[in-house]
Amino acid sequence: WRLHAPLIAEINRLKRAKNAVILAHNYMTPEIFHGVGDFVGDSLALAKEAARCDAEVIVQAGVHFMAETSKVLSPEKKILIPDLDAGCSLASSITGADVRLIKQRYPGLPVVTYVNTTADVKAETDICCTSANAVQVVEEAARMWGVDRVILIPDEFLARNVARQTHVGIIAWKGRCEVHERFTAEDILEIKAAYPGAEVLAHPECPAEVLEVSDFAGSTAAMNDYVISKRPKQVVLITECSMADNVAADAVGTEFVRPCNLCPHMKRISLQNIYEALLYDRYEVTVDPAVAERARLAVQRMVDLPP
Ligand code: 13P
Ligand code: SF4
Repeated sequence: WRLHAPLIAEINRLKRAKNAVILAHNYMTPEIFHGVGDFVGDSLALAKEAARCDAEVIVQAGVHFMAETSKVLSPEKKILIPDLDAGCSLASSITGADVRLIKQRYPGLPVVTYVNTTADVKAETDICCTSANAVQVVEEAARMWGVDRVILIPDEFLARNVARQTHVGIIAWKGRCEVHERFTAEDILEIKAAYPGAEVLAHPECPAEVLEVSDFAGSTAAMNDYVISKRPKQVVLITECSMADNVAADAVGTEFVRPCNLCPHMKRISLQNIYEALLYDRYEVTVDPAVAERARLAVQRMVDLPP
């Protein structure tokens, strides 16, 4: 990524001139992640940082729902996304109207919503979660509402994987991550046969059969921590491709075995369009203030949970 040094230097200069920060998700390419990201991490870490930082402008190097989450938490800041079409199959799997219908069907049950959703959906939500804290949030919601079942939407696989780790009953939706749903248990068994020493870490958006044959399941931050603290000789990250590229830079001595899948939405973000975002102040992400106020409650409840 050092080949991009002139553009990286120009982006970093513009950031200072505009009092801007770049929040970069773990799925950004290394030249973004290591070259210009001021804060890097998983969805939970980026949401917390958006609320905490005191920049005037946030450039979201990630997908649209992440930029909306930043706006919801920081309505006074200007939130830019370098490409408005950076979407997400999970976020587009459900609407606010769908959530209203689910609530009519299950009155009295709390709605726990994965952050990979639009602000409209979050506005119908009681508390948000990410893959890093989903079990904790589900149990907390059941306790706070005094119920033994919760609605956990929209990722069908995340819901199933959380259900295996808690006694709280889970009502799910049918959304899927188009990157993680493509991994199969056969893929993992083939990797294990070819690389018997490799440790397999899988994201909870994968099908349950994949997690069953993996050695560890966790969010992108949890995978990073696992590799950095345990330094396995060989590792496979069953997730988006840039994840391994980014962790590898800090994990000398660990061999990263592929395969991986690319997220076409995350890959819309490039150094060039980050530069243009800062130069031309584009594309600003706005959320209807009434929607944002309701969505904020749900995201803030998550952010305020103890670590
Ligand atoms: P996390 O970084 O929270 O694990 O989320 C992964 C993801 O798919 C984000 O779009
Ligand atoms: Fe959405 Fe999956 Fe891409 Fe993340 S990796 S943005 S969950 S489609």
